[in-house]
Amino acid sequence: MRVPFVDLKAQYLSIKDEIDAAMQEVVENTAFVGGKTVTGFERAFAEFSGAKYCVGTSSGTSALHIALQVCGVGPGDEVITVPNTFIASTEAISQSGATFKLVDIDPETFNMDPNALEGAITSRTKALLPVHLYGQPADLEPILAIAEKHGLQVIADAAQAHASTYKGKPIGSYCRASCFSFYPGKNLGAYGDAGAFVTDDEEIAVLGKSLIDHGRSEKYAHAVEGYNYRLDGLQAAVLRVKLGHLEHWTESRRRAAALYREKLASLPIEVAQESADRRHVYHLFSVFHDERDRLRDELAEKGIASGIHYPVPIHLQKAYEARNEKQGSYPVSERAMKRQMSLPMFPELTEEQIDHVVTTLTEALATGS
Ligand SMILES: Cc1ncc(COP(=O)(O)O)c(C=O)c1O
Repeated sequence: MRVPFVDLKAQYLSIKDEIDAAMQEVVENTAFVGGKTVTGFERAFAEFSGAKYCVGTSSGTSALHIALQVCGVGPGDEVITVPNTFIASTEAISQSGATFKLVDIDPETFNMDPNALEGAITSRTKALLPVHLYGQPADLEPILAIAEKHGLQVIADAAQAHASTYKGKPIGSYCRASCFSFYPGKNLGAYGDAGAFVTDDEEIAVLGKSLIDHGRSEKYAHAVEGYNYRLDGLQAAVLRVKLGHLEHWTESRRRAAALYREKLASLPIEVAQESADRRHVYHLFSVFHDERDRLRDELAEKGIASGIHYPVPIHLQKAYEARNEKQGSYPVSERAMKRQMSLPMFPELTEEQIDHVVTTLTEALATGS
């Protein structure tokens, strides 16, 4: 039996009629850029995410870049984030003209450790950028309290955390801006690149809307220079249809995670835990083991795909060589990243497929050194 890492074809087939009709409508109306499909999706996604405003963008990376810029982050500023993330989090900080500083993570949730923040804040720190990794929100209350104490903005990288909640409320209702990716494999995925940030602040939403569209205030009137970071009509149409299914897809992910957890409980492998005060939406299902690479090879031999998120910590990426940060600087992140692997996780995953993964892992663990 083959178990893919995600199955976008199965998802498309389950909603084919709706998707085809929505895309056809955009084509018939030739509403390829902007228009009511985009604004309609933005309104629906803001409400879904517990925020007043949503600015659709061309990707999650451009959402992060614009959100940082509209929150006033620029040259000379420092933004604090974590080493165990996708490079887009730090790229966006660099693109805004600021520099990033890293803090280690909490060993239980793999998210920003609030206790590490005070020691990293300097007079140049302007913002904190927690990443809601794997689909589980970072510990927002202490992070926001520290931000308030030091007069800092909190801009969240929520690329993996659509539909997640913290203490019963959607994550979009907490930070100055929360940035989402709609890359195809994400929990809410477009059919190409797309992203958005949500906020309760009308001023930054208006500024963001203008900056993603060349700083336009009206046709051929540009108050400032901006970017071409617009969300296109076809992607908005796909996203609007898929948003209507996100809640039951999220529940399917959570059911699959509960099954994995139950079936893996007696095996000598660590399984990422779920905090009681958060709704983990399982963009990724993580397990940890010293022989991670051997286990992945044995899964692959039995037709089971897996991933590593992420194999190289930010401070050890070649792109950041000049920062001269050493191996061992962030021990909790580095240990987790050496041992982490992501098992297949998508809403259409069947119990039979989960059983095949668990049986194969059981056999692989039994032959371990
Ligand atoms: C944690 C994280 N941040 C940012 C991004 C960037 O999003 P995008 O690929 O839509 O630019 C991604 C996804 O790729 C991500 O997983």
